[in-house]
Amino acid sequence: MQEPKPTTFGFQEVSPAEKTRLVNDVFHRVARRYDLMNDVMSGGIHRFWKNQLIHTMRPSAQTHLLDVAGGTGDIAFRFLQACTQSHVTVCDMNPGMIEVGRDRALDRGIVKNLEWVCGDASVLPFTASSFDLYSIAFGLRNVTFREEALREAFRVLKSGGKFFCLEFSKVHVPGLKELYHFYNFSLIPRFGAWIGQDRDAYQYLVESIAQFPDQQQLAVEIRQAGFEAVQVQSLSGGIVAIHQGIKR
Ligand SMILES: C[S@@+](CC[C@H](N)C(=O)[O-])C[C@H]1O[C@@H](n2cnc3c(N)ncnc32)[C@H](O)[C@@H]1O
Repeated sequence: MQEPKPTTFGFQEVSPAEKTRLVNDVFHRVARRYDLMNDVMSGGIHRFWKNQLIHTMRPSAQTHLLDVAGGTGDIAFRFLQACTQSHVTVCDMNPGMIEVGRDRALDRGIVKNLEWVCGDASVLPFTASSFDLYSIAFGLRNVTFREEALREAFRVLKSGGKFFCLEFSKVHVPGLKELYHFYNFSLIPRFGAWIGQDRDAYQYLVESIAQFPDQQQLAVEIRQAGFEAVQVQSLSGGIVAIHQGIKR
């Protein structure tokens, strides 16, 4: 039998099975501190990026959103708060992240129209043409089989359904690029060690950002999965980007 093609976990070359195991291990370790660390690392800017994603998705009544790699629920909560008549299914492969998400939902009193499913983005446990919208925020970078995950997004969306991805991307502003590189590689792993008590998890974070395709390349991959009218919106000088596409 042929060996599976190697992939990357940060800057390390690993087998696909090893990547999935290592990513799961990272999120299992950081789950309880994940939300605090997001605020610390981004100075709270991740809230603005996520709000911008919700704004771009335009939540409306009777819309069913599938939020893949939904983790501790940030996108689901914002979506349901923007439109209480909508419905969200969060799917994530890590039971630890889902457990934190369920606790946060209870703390916020969000129980209606929300469900949590443990599953892999590249083999989604849903029938074809089930959802109006699909989102994946800071998740695609961690997925072992990106091509398959994009094809799965296409499969589970209804015809006319929309795909959205919020992810770290490539900074295109001179000056900011160098500053961002310094911040990522010199400071984030240190904050990760002091506050997150897990330097390796945050070293993986910055390496995975560096390895991820830029705005144009990701748009090509989304088109290859079958999506049309693919658009890209860079935020904060390209630190992150929102990609969207339609299944016709
Ligand atoms: C950085 S967190 C993002 C969580 C949330 N979307 C947010 O924006 O705060 C990445 C999430 O992707 C999940 N993940 C990684 N690989 C996955 C896969 N193949 N399928 C489903 N979830 C995956 C992890 O378990 C983790 O919860």
